[in-house]
Amino acid sequence: MMEHPSTFLSGEEISRRLKVSRTAVWKRMERLRLMGYEIEGSTRSGYRLVQSPDLLTPSEIKPLLKTKWMAKRIHHFQTIDSTNSKAYQLALNGAEEGEVVISESQEKGRGRLGRQWFSPPSLNLYLSVILRPRIPPHQAPLITLMAAVATADTIREFSGLLPLIKWPNDILLRDRKVAGLLNEIHSEIDRVHFVILGIGVNLNTGEEKFSKEIRSVATSLKIETGQTVSRKDFLRALLFELEEWYSIFLEEGSAVVLKAWRDRANIRGREVKVTSFGETVVGTAIDVDSDGALILETEDGKQRRVMAGDIEYRK
Ligand code: BTN
Repeated sequence: MMEHPSTFLSGEEISRRLKVSRTAVWKRMERLRLMGYEIEGSTRSGYRLVQSPDLLTPSEIKPLLKTKWMAKRIHHFQTIDSTNSKAYQLALNGAEEGEVVISESQEKGRGRLGRQWFSPPSLNLYLSVILRPRIPPHQAPLITLMAAVATADTIREFSGLLPLIKWPNDILLRDRKVAGLLNEIHSEIDRVHFVILGIGVNLNTGEEKFSKEIRSVATSLKIETGQTVSRKDFLRALLFELEEWYSIFLEEGSAVVLKAWRDRANIRGREVKVTSFGETVVGTAIDVDSDGALILETEDGKQRRVMAGDIEYRK
């Protein structure tokens, strides 16, 4: 029915194709209706799909995918604590590279540095991808940089606006955060077991939905463009970009990824204030090195390397 929307398929035909009884077909239709599928039913002609709900279920997403291997297995939830926690658990239990976790909402969406990620239902994208790169752990931050590039490029494609990556991996539109990445790693000293790429993109959140605390620092594609974004199309494009950039990283190495990140972050020479583990450092950003660390020159002319934290642009 999904393959041929708008044409009627008889109950008998469906029961034959799915090898289930007519009653089971009827029950399945009822279940689909409860999920939001609009299905016309007539005793003479059978069933016809009138409209699909805006859900990111495997049956909605799989036919759209342009990827070669990523997201061939999709774990979809109406709600979950955090897609990252679920993906981590699945990876520990042997899930393969490319499996993804998607949820319509998150009860405990996690942000960097122990923060929360605002995850209301059905408006945005909450995605975690399981990767199993054969790299030493010190190279794992490059995966974060490549994922930030892929996310920024997808946002650019869908908004027509130029996003800026803010170190380490916030994506900004008009100085406000439209997407964030939380990447987690499981490794031995010299070998990565898996990386969980956690990506949250504010697609259709209206300004009024953001709490007072985050309203002045957060935005969505809809707020910026005035248009609703199709979550399915965005997800399809993002998965395609991620697969592309990941293979560029594996095949061509870190230099290409670093260059792409620098081009989109435009951080060199900017005056920044960095808060890292309770300490504040002020200086001029010189670069990001291949471990993803921020290199600063402080007022006394010394260079400092900052591995984690938050930055504020001073000019
Ligand atoms: C940040 O900017 O602080 C990172 C936000 C990351 C949010 C995403 S939403 C999908 C995935 N699951 C989570 O719990 N967090 C990430």
